[in-house]
Formats: sequence, structure tokens, C-alpha cells
Amino acid sequence: MTSSGGTMSGTDRTSNKVLLAWVEDYAALTKPKDIYWCDGSEDEYQRLCAEMVDAGTLIPLNPDKRPGSFLARSHPKDVARVEGRTYICSDSPEEAGPTNNWMAPDEMRGTLDGLFDGCMAGRTLYVVPFSMGPLGSPIAHIGVELTDSPYVAVSMKVMTRMGQKVLDTLGDDGVFVPCLHSVGAPLAAGEADSAWPCNETKYIVHFPQDRSIWSFGSGYGGNALLGKKCLALRIASMMAHDEGWLAEHMLILGLESPEAETTYVAAAFPSACGKTNLAMMVPPAGFDGWKVKTVGDDIAWIKKGPDGDLRAINPEAGYFGVAPGTSMQSNPNAMKSLVKDCIFTNVALTDDGDVWWEGMDGDPPAHAIDWQGNDWTPDAGRLASHPNARFTVSAKQCPSFDPAWDDPNGVPISAFIFGGRLSETFPLVYGADSWEHGVYMAATMGSEATAAADDQAAIRRDPMAMLPFCGYNMADYWSHWLELGQSLKAPPKVFRVNWFRKDAAGKFIWPGFGDNMRVIKWIVDRVHGQVEAVDHPLGQTPHYNDLTWTGLDFSEAAFNELMSLKKAAGLVEVEEQAEYFSRFGGRLPAELANERKRQAERFMASPDVWRADA
Ligand code: GTP
Ligand code: SPV
Ligand code: MN
Repeated sequence: MTSSGGTMSGTDRTSNKVLLAWVEDYAALTKPKDIYWCDGSEDEYQRLCAEMVDAGTLIPLNPDKRPGSFLARSHPKDVARVEGRTYICSDSPEEAGPTNNWMAPDEMRGTLDGLFDGCMAGRTLYVVPFSMGPLGSPIAHIGVELTDSPYVAVSMKVMTRMGQKVLDTLGDDGVFVPCLHSVGAPLAAGEADSAWPCNETKYIVHFPQDRSIWSFGSGYGGNALLGKKCLALRIASMMAHDEGWLAEHMLILGLESPEAETTYVAAAFPSACGKTNLAMMVPPAGFDGWKVKTVGDDIAWIKKGPDGDLRAINPEAGYFGVAPGTSMQSNPNAMKSLVKDCIFTNVALTDDGDVWWEGMDGDPPAHAIDWQGNDWTPDAGRLASHPNARFTVSAKQCPSFDPAWDDPNGVPISAFIFGGRLSETFPLVYGADSWEHGVYMAATMGSEATAAADDQAAIRRDPMAMLPFCGYNMADYWSHWLELGQSLKAPPKVFRVNWFRKDAAGKFIWPGFGDNMRVIKWIVDRVHGQVEAVDHPLGQTPHYNDLTWTGLDFSEAAFNELMSLKKAAGLVEVEEQAEYFSRFGGRLPAELANERKRQAERFMASPDVWRADA
């Protein structure tokens, strides 16, 4: 075995003995043709991209249209995270809890040792040192990913702080999270490679006891960029539990007033429910002088600050956002972030060498190459881009980028917002009257699996938008949330929002997107004690006149309809919550059972249809 990347071998790059020994051990197991230590430089990024262009993995886009950018097409069976193949291998199934897949650690280790044996044959093993969070920040953590995918290596350069500087920070005895990744497609001598190697068999495995990650068979997104969901959420949620902090599936945004005072909020929405949109929102007309500042769009790490407040960082350095539906209409700041130096995966390629996806501004192209590499025309009867097609871009390219992103102390969080995709029952916004009530609101959050307008749409409970990302028993996670807030002098206020309620005709009632600013502004006003609220059966809701309506024709009657609540639907909801809670047995915190009871009583006492004007 040789080490490529000039003459630099591991020992030239670090003297961290644990790291060197680990790389050696896993190279012995996976048997790559060579080992390459990433330095994170711009040169290296360009060189690896050029190599992938030669290999057919990346297609360079037209430099006049999209400079420095590439298109990747994944294998059609490797297009998204695979929750069914994601495991938390704690000592006992109870530690993983009823919402996670579990296998006994020894059994899983046996399976993985078999799969990883020789799995990198014919490929380069890339050593990718990365920091989640500002280098050296007390809130940050270092990981090292060993991967046989150059696509993963370059994506990690965009999505994290990656390279030699991380090894320097790690030093001789620094601690890192070991992340082992293979696409699981060894090459026999002389065997031709494919553009997107992967394996039908997939395993995304987390070992809480030794805080390690093993991922096999997929090269896509959260399966393969192990700093993201695997480290920054599943492993970090366990660390956070043990160390008294929070690792959450949340965007972080700052709302700056015309007086230049910024209030930061963190908001959790399940995957594909609009975190990126909200994080980069452009205030509508009528909000002169107001500014949204983007700190993060997917993950927040939140720790107690020295003043007893909660401070949050975005551990990531880039956005891995859903492309379809992104337009100048829905997310102008995302569109402006994507003008150069991006990697697009599974979008369509236009005849002039640019990208296209469903929902982009303007007419569809008369002809394109679809995400699977086939000719496509608007009447083809199939999508040109995959619904989970994504862009990968540096956070700094976003026009609303907040330089506080790099502040090692994080930003102070004044409110938590939780929202799902709920076409019925749930109003636009309501606030909690206590921390316990807020945790209950977050723990019972649900979201529809599809955007289908039908009444039967299955609601999947997605507590705190963490269902696929909580690395331990969800009930213990709720206890942790309760304890953390109870230990604060003034915990942040908690809100639920729902942009997705539909009318009888199946149309969204609320315009959403930039207009969500009206709701965020009300939330910030509540945080600062500037507005009173209405007592709604679910919590505290806005007076119509306390929302800023400039530039939007939305009548008080329409608003009252949007905020209305049917008692029968409320009672069904608390029944379903009871069923859900029962899955957690004796581990369910008493506070949540109690809040559910209080909620049931409020529904019982409410009229058949609650309306502010009834
Ligand atoms: P992950 O990156 O998967 O974690 O997801 P995300 O939360 O960042 O979601 P994403 O930005 O991919 O979600 C976009 C989807 O939400 C698209 O279907 C948008 O049309 C929809 N969406 C976002 N904001 C709104 C809104 O205010 N109203 C409505 N109706 N849809 C919205
Ligand atoms: C999500 O699914 O919530 C994502 C995309 O943010 S991935 O990184 O692929 O998990
Ligand atoms: Mn996400």
C-alpha cells in the first residue's frame, strides 16, 4: 500500500497516536489501494473534482452560467437517507428506545467486520479530518471520516471546516469521533468503476458506548457525510445528554430590528418542511429596516452560556438543501447562493450546460437530461430532477449569512419554534405558557409524510423533528429537555407553527415563505413582552391586530378561520398522543403525561368550534 497526495503520509500530518493507529487498523481491514490525507486546501478540492470529472462522477457545468460548479448523478437506488437501515447499537434495546432500530453491538460488529473486510479494494482511502463548529470553540467537536468516496471528501470540504487545520487543533492527544464510511463497492484488478458506486446492502450504524460511526453501502447525503446526521445529531445528542447540552435538528436565524437589535431563534421542522426557506427568509414589503440573518439551516448545538442563557452554534459550514421547489419566489437567498462553486446532485442538466429542477423560475426547458441521464422534455410524464435532489454550497455564499456563524461563543437563543406539515386542526402559531408545556408541544409534534391533500394522510409523530436523529431513548431525551430548561433562570419561550393548514378545496390557507416573517416578528414581540396574547385551547395565540399585515390582503375572518379549532379533532389528537406516549412505558416523564391531561381538559372545556370571534 502506498500513500498518495505528494510524499505526505499520516505521520507527516499528525502525531496523534490514536488517530494514526486507527487509520492503520482500518486500512488493514478495508484494504484500499492507497491512503490519502486531505489537507482541505482549495487546490486539493479542485484536483479531486477534476479527477471525478475524468471518472464520470462529476459533470462540469457551463462556466459562463455556473462557474466552479458540478453535477453528480447518484445511483437510482441511492437517493436519500435510509431510516430502515439506520441503527443505534447501545448495550440494551431500552437504551435505544422504541423509535430506533437496535441490534446487539457484538452482533453488529461481526456483521460490519465482514462487510468492511476488503471493501475498499482498488480504491483510495481518504482521511477527512473535520470540525463541527468553529475550530477550537468550547461548543465544537472534531471527527475524522475515513471514506473511499472522493465525492464525500469534497462535500465534507464544503459542509464542514475540514483539513490540516483540524489535525493541528486536534494535536497529539485530542479526542475525535471515528467515522468509517465505505460505498461498499470493492474493485477487482482491472475492473472498470461506475460513476456512482454503492451497494444494495446498506448499514448506517452508531455505537453509543464508544461513540463511533460505521456507514456502508451508500454515498448519499446524511448516509455518507458522516459529520451531519450521524455525528452532529445522533452521536452528539448522546454527548449532549451526558454533558448537559442540546444537539438539535434546527435552523438558527437572527431577526434584526430597524434599531439594529438582533433576536435569535432556533426552529425545528422535520426533513423537507422548510428549514432552509425559513432560515434564509426575505422580509416582505412593509418590514422596512428588518433583516433576517442566517446562522444555520439544519443543525444547532446549544449549550448553557456563562450568563445562564442558551448559546447556539451551527456546527456545519455549508448547506445541503433540497433543490426542487427552490426559486426566486420561494427562496431568493438560496438562489443567489447557488450562482457559483456548488455541487448539485440529481438535478436536470440543460442543453446549455446549466442545471434545472421542478419549481425553478420561468418555463421548463424544452429539452434537458434528467437526473438519471436520459433525454427529458416537459411532456415526458416524469420528473426531470429527483424530489430529493440537493445542492451543496458554502454557507458564506448566502447573502443573508450572519458572520456570528463563526463566533465560538455561539448566539443567544430567545425562542424555540417547532413546526410540522399539518393540513388540518393545527393553527398558524401558538405559544406555550410554561417550559413544561413547551416541551410537551414539541414532543407531540407530528407531520404528514406526504404533501397530499387527502384527509387520511398519515401523521407521523416526529418529536422535536428528531425522530430519525435521536441517538438514545426518546423518553430520556424528553426528560433531558425538561431538566435543561428547569435549570435555567429564564428558559426560552416555546412556540408551535404550522404553515401547511389547508382549506376545504385543499389549498394552503397561509401564503407562507416570506410572509412567515409576520409570525416570526410576533414571536419576537412576545419574547420581548411587547404584545398580549389570546387564550386558545392549544396555547397563546396572536390578536389579529398584533400581526403586521402591510402588503398582504389577509382578512380578520380568514385569520380567525386559520386559528380555529374543532373540539372533536382536539380530543382525537390527545387520544392519539396517549397511545404514542404509552410506547415509552415508565420512562415517560410525568410532566408530559400531566401536560397531556391538562390539554385534554382544555379541549373538554372548549366549544365545539373555537374561534376568536365566536
Ligand atoms: P432537510 O434539509 O431535509 O432537513 O429539510 P428542510 O427543513 O430544510 O426542508 P426544505 O427546505 O427542503 O423544505 C422545502 C419544502 O417545504 C418545499 O416543499 C417547500 O415548498 C415547503 N415550504 C417551505 N416553506 C413553506 C411555507 O411557508 N409554506 C408552504 N406551504 N410550504 C413551504
Ligand atoms: C434531512 O433529511 O433532514 C437532511 C438531508 O437534512 S440529509 O443530510 O441527507 O440527511
Ligand atoms: Mn435535515
